[in-house]
Amino acid sequence: MSNIFGKIKGKAKRIYYDRFIDREKHMFHAYQKRFFQYAFHVDKCNSKMQYETIITKYYHAIEKGLAFTDYRAGFGRDNINTLIRLMEEYSQKYDVNSFCYKTSLCTLYTYVEKNRKYGLEDTELEKRINSLPGTANQQGGVLEFAPISDGQECNYESLVMGRHSIRHFSDIPVDMDILNRALSLAQQTPSACNRQGWGTIVIQDKNKISDMLNYQNGNAGFGGEIDVLLLVVAELQAFNCDREVFQPYVDGGMYAMRLLDSLCYHGIATCPLSAALTPEQEENVRRIAEINESEIPILFIGIGNYPETCQTTKSERHNPLTRYV
Ligand SMILES: Cc1cc2nc3c(=O)[nH]c(=O)nc-3n(C[C@H](O)[C@H](O)[C@H](O)COP(=O)(O)O)c2cc1C
Repeated sequence: MSNIFGKIKGKAKRIYYDRFIDREKHMFHAYQKRFFQYAFHVDKCNSKMQYETIITKYYHAIEKGLAFTDYRAGFGRDNINTLIRLMEEYSQKYDVNSFCYKTSLCTLYTYVEKNRKYGLEDTELEKRINSLPGTANQQGGVLEFAPISDGQECNYESLVMGRHSIRHFSDIPVDMDILNRALSLAQQTPSACNRQGWGTIVIQDKNKISDMLNYQNGNAGFGGEIDVLLLVVAELQAFNCDREVFQPYVDGGMYAMRLLDSLCYHGIATCPLSAALTPEQEENVRRIAEINESEIPILFIGIGNYPETCQTTKSERHNPLTRYV
């Protein structure tokens, strides 16, 4: 395409260019329409998949609270009420033997049990939870694990199965040489035409980290323990106006995943943190992280060293969704 573009000049070039822009706009609007048609809105669901996704989101928040070392008995009552309401609705419409429903039930039972251990008994809440139909599995709650250490022999499967998001870190600072090794390894991520249109902003200053995390939506209760904050960005200058409006998110996302694995391989604890931001949050993040105009945020990664005992959310996976056509 760049060859043809190079040969045509003046008005013809402008027309050609306008056609690119029109096509990108069309792709963008078509996506936007599809997105609003199918994505869930806060906690109102119209389909089984929307219910299961949002139930997962809510029980995951409970798993997070259960995994905190500094446990707060009775935490998250509003979320728990919403989750129970969603599960009641779900049970009236769909099969309560689904993985999602059973795992959610298991998480709620674990929550009640842990609160009781901490001396908190809420009979009203327990009655509501116990009256939910169906039986629990064992797949919700907290996972304890031994982390992979730097230099440890590990094959691909043990790396994948041994990487977990962690939200508690030791006081020992991250060795920046190890971080740099992980960054070099992650550079091996495949990308469209090997363009490698990504970058990582490394923030070590604790005031900056805490300032930045004020504008991120998922670090409550543990953000203050993060030793170094990474922000993966995609560089728009590496992408073509023709058809590639979403490609920066694909390449940037693939790189972010590789970086998580590389850090895990080198014995560094990580927690991916969403960079799905409101415009106001993004403006502040851009200012604090000094992001170039040509870059877009893809993912924050909070890093640190592993604590002595590692516990995190079970975050069990459901079966892969595959269709053979
Ligand atoms: C794009 C993305 C955004 C995430 N955002 C957050 C977040 O804001 N806060 C958080 O505690 N965890 C966040 N996570 C971590 C997920 O909760 C976690 O990956 C998931 O539960 C699976 O668990 P695992 O990473 O231990 O396998 C995020 C993960 C991804 C991939």
